[in-house]
Amino acid sequence: MTAYCPSETRYDSMRYNRSGRSGLKLPAISLGLWYNFGGVDTLKNSRDMILRAFDLGITHIDLANNYGPPPGSAEETFGQILRQDLRAYRDELVISTKAGYLMWPGPYGEWGSRKYLIASLDQSLKRMGLDYVDIFYHHRPDPETPLEETMGALDQIVRSGKALYVGISSYSPEDTRKAAALLRQLGTPCLIHQPSYNMFNRWVEDGLLDAVRDEGMGCIVFSPLAQGLLTDKYLKGIPENSRAAKPHGFLQPDQITDEKLGQIQRLGEVARARNQTIAQLALAWVLRHPEVTSALIGASKVSQIDDAVGALQNLSFSADELATIEAILAG
Ligand SMILES: NC(=O)c1ccc[n+]([C@@H]2O[C@H](COP(=O)([O-])OP(=O)(O)OC[C@H]3O[C@@H](n4cnc5c(N)ncnc54)[C@H](OP(=O)(O)O)[C@@H]3O)[C@@H](O)[C@H]2O)c1
Repeated sequence: MTAYCPSETRYDSMRYNRSGRSGLKLPAISLGLWYNFGGVDTLKNSRDMILRAFDLGITHIDLANNYGPPPGSAEETFGQILRQDLRAYRDELVISTKAGYLMWPGPYGEWGSRKYLIASLDQSLKRMGLDYVDIFYHHRPDPETPLEETMGALDQIVRSGKALYVGISSYSPEDTRKAAALLRQLGTPCLIHQPSYNMFNRWVEDGLLDAVRDEGMGCIVFSPLAQGLLTDKYLKGIPENSRAAKPHGFLQPDQITDEKLGQIQRLGEVARARNQTIAQLALAWVLRHPEVTSALIGASKVSQIDDAVGALQNLSFSADELATIEAILAG
């Protein structure tokens, strides 16, 4: 294996956007390790993708305790690459992890108790070989634990030095405002919200973007390509090795309907007229909101990361283009 030496031009073309009213900037495209970085995947491909991302100015890598499969293995893979290739560049990276989904058996292995969040972050730090993460998230709202306890745990985590900032994921607009108020009172402002958002899933437009703007939070949107649907990948069937073909893939074949494929075909025409791929169009489209700090992509190969970063060459939309996209999405 050749020693890694990062590209000297890595900061030349990436855009960095401020996360809300914080001091932290994030790249407009960030890389998430939900799939393709686990124990079932090839270490060489995982390494190639992470190093390519860093060479393109993608300074933010997003993880969670349960990413793999098996759960925990994406953090282990990332820890290995960090030790081997990126140790000298730790301060050029923003590394996040999360806890909220099932990680270990029994009543303390999921949701939002102080007991779970603190133990889980300690495990994540060990798997990655880190003293601290840059951002620690509560991964999903917990209907039973008082928000005061969950936000108190996030505040404690920052005070203990195990995370520099905290965030929340998939919280409703109302709970986002409550969480922001609690964290502000505690003196640990909420850095960022991580919701799903793409052309086929627009819930954030119904109050969440307003909430993050009002509260001064950033917003990093996950699955901006609808897990690969918003590309040309499924137009001619389900390719082998695609997420929809994987037994552990979260994208189910029955989500790939004829109606969606028709819409994707038509989006392809808009993309072509803009000199973009469908993926680039989909990424530019989520980044059109000033509230969206970063589009959090996934990838299974290096070329997909190159494709995503290419979106930055054309982020503006004419009123006509936006109207055409609306008409396509309306059916
Ligand atoms: N907070 C949460 O609850 C939550 C939930 C989900 C995800 N996330 C975060 O968001 C990240 C991204 O999620 P995601 O992976 O669903 O995002 P995505 O960007 O919507 O989908 C990524 C997948 O699309 C396919 N793809 C990407 N670029 C392509 C291209 N140019 N052409 C064809 N196919 C392409 C690849 O799948 P193939 O394998 O088919 O090639 C890739 O793995 C995750 O890694 C994680 O960090 C957070």
